Amino acid sequence: MSKEKINIELCLGSSCFSKGSNKIVDFLEEKLSDNFFDIEISLKGCLCKDKCTEGPIVKINDKLYTNVSTDNITSLINEHISN
Ligand code: FES
Repeated sequence: MSKEKINIELCLGSSCFSKGSNKIVDFLEEKLSDNFFDIEISLKGCLCKDKCTEGPIVKINDKLYTNVSTDNITSLINEHISN
């Protein structure tokens, strides 16, 4: 059986970047290399989503999240993993 898969897009626009989207990328890459999540994750960067004041912005599957940080990204991902 193939693993569940979710798609994550992180805004790498300058505002989100300055608010820490690069730290989220580093954090997720570390988790992915440790196989922390027992699912397949596609991680991509994206351009500005026009929500700069609410950044960092992360889209998980079709849902857009604002004010994402390394503190809350894990629980946001877990919302998309079915048990
Ligand atoms: S830079 Fe991320 S929404 Fe604009």
